Amino acid sequence: MNQDEMKQAVAQAALKYVEKDTIIGVGTGSTANFFIDALSALKGEIKGAVASSVATQKRLEGYGIKVFDLNQVDEISVYIDGADEADGGLNLIKGGGGALTREKIVAAVAEKFVCIADESKLVEVMGAFALPVEVIPMAVNYVKRQIENDIGGRAILRDFTTDNGNKILDIQGLKITDAKAVESQINSIVGVVTNGLFANRGADILLLGGSDGVKIIKP
Ligand code: 5RP
Repeated sequence: MNQDEMKQAVAQAALKYVEKDTIIGVGTGSTANFFIDALSALKGEIKGAVASSVATQKRLEGYGIKVFDLNQVDEISVYIDGADEADGGLNLIKGGGGALTREKIVAAVAEKFVCIADESKLVEVMGAFALPVEVIPMAVNYVKRQIENDIGGRAILRDFTTDNGNKILDIQGLKITDAKAVESQINSIVGVVTNGLFANRGADILLLGGSDGVKIIKP
């Protein structure tokens, strides 16, 4: 099985967590895209979805799945999304696609967060994947200095603008052993919108696709 086939397998397995007649949250990225493709078969069974990015909204609507603005809904039964890295405690790094802030908001509202990923994403210690931080544009240089002085690593400006009109700094060279503390510390820097650590609200379930099938990992 290649990586895309593993992503497809976990995307298919995630359908089991979709509850009938509810609104679900849908993430962003190639694994989430496979999930949307699979979800199209169930589109008559859900009320609709909240999207974590403009790209996801377009893909959902392309299948005729109703997309709600988050302010129109009170409850999201489950949020299904990929990750760039996950550790055994189901802390995640997300934001490789730059959608981290909306992803974090939808995950916060959802009753359950099911993360779907191929086995290459599971690591002992997170940080080999550069940690994305969404930053208000005027604060980029200030936030970069604060991160490099107080957190460590190198904060590199990505040539990218988020759906919210902000910039992304990718922090290279971290070894994240206390993900909750690092998430909170970075978020306390003025000018940071949020960072891609999902630890204070990590995943509830990780579906991990490997060559021998889909494993279910719970913390
Ligand atoms: C986007 C994300 C994605 O979930 C993450 O980048 C994983 O992407 P892929 O499924 O393409 O490997 O956080 O902001």
